[in-house]
Amino acid sequence: MSAALPAQSLPAVAARLRSAGCVFAEDEARLLIAAARTPAELAAMVQARAAGQPLEHVLGWAEFCGLRIHVDPGVFVPRRRTEFLVSQAAGLLSPLPCPVIVDLCCGSGALGVALAAAASRPVDLHAADIDPAAVRCARRNVLPAGGQVYQGDLAGPLPAGLRGRVDVLLANVPYVPTGEVALLPAEAREHEAQVALDGGRDGLDVLRRVAAVAPAWLAPDGHLLTEISDRQVAPATAAVIAAGLVPRLARSAELGATVLIAAR
Ligand SMILES: C[S@@+](CC[C@H](N)C(=O)[O-])C[C@H]1O[C@@H](n2cnc3c(N)ncnc32)[C@H](O)[C@@H]1O
Repeated sequence: MSAALPAQSLPAVAARLRSAGCVFAEDEARLLIAAARTPAELAAMVQARAAGQPLEHVLGWAEFCGLRIHVDPGVFVPRRRTEFLVSQAAGLLSPLPCPVIVDLCCGSGALGVALAAAASRPVDLHAADIDPAAVRCARRNVLPAGGQVYQGDLAGPLPAGLRGRVDVLLANVPYVPTGEVALLPAEAREHEAQVALDGGRDGLDVLRRVAAVAPAWLAPDGHLLTEISDRQVAPATAAVIAAGLVPRLARSAELGATVLIAAR
């Protein structure tokens, strides 16, 4: 707990958060109290959270794969279920020294950073996103992990020297169908960028484009990993097959995650 704040803040903060509808009010109150440096800062944070801002945006970080990832306002908050994609990717890293990891549509950069940490040896990490706010945020996470971050459309900004050399291509792209964005929880709808959520008519527009360019970037035994919803299994699988890749699925019932893994 922050030294500046009295312990008796906890019941009051938890009560305020509970009345605003926060299900894990006590846990959140502890985190906010620990993060705030002054009572005024705590009051502002509690106010922001009670007004519906995602906890991670209020704190400025999200826990992902046991790491603290900076998450700036407006940037997609890495989801707990996506830890499953990272665990699948970790099992596919080439045993060669310094495998090449690319994190496309990187958002905060959480996936690449977590995979680099899981590799527990040097990796060559690159990440890219189209949204300048995401790129700024990713740089705060990826540069300290020894990687590079680029801004632009999909693989467009990657260095040409990576073509044909990527061991693991992570691509947790936007995959919500346009007509369902309005049905997302307000925390996502109102506080994450539309470009981070909207995947087009069936949610697979960005994934189809990633699949189409992936073969040019993957190493001969490289893999593309992407998260999809269960309803998207058939069309997403068809998209990677159409791109000349060999698909398989991995599922985690515990995390509610479906990951499409495509080998070159
Ligand atoms: C669902 S978020 C995922 C972010 C991150 N991969 C994660 O899982 O936390 C999708 C990200 O894709 C980015 N994005 C959307 N369209 C893009 C494009 N054409 N090129 C590059 N990035 C794009 C968005 O800015 C957003 O950061």
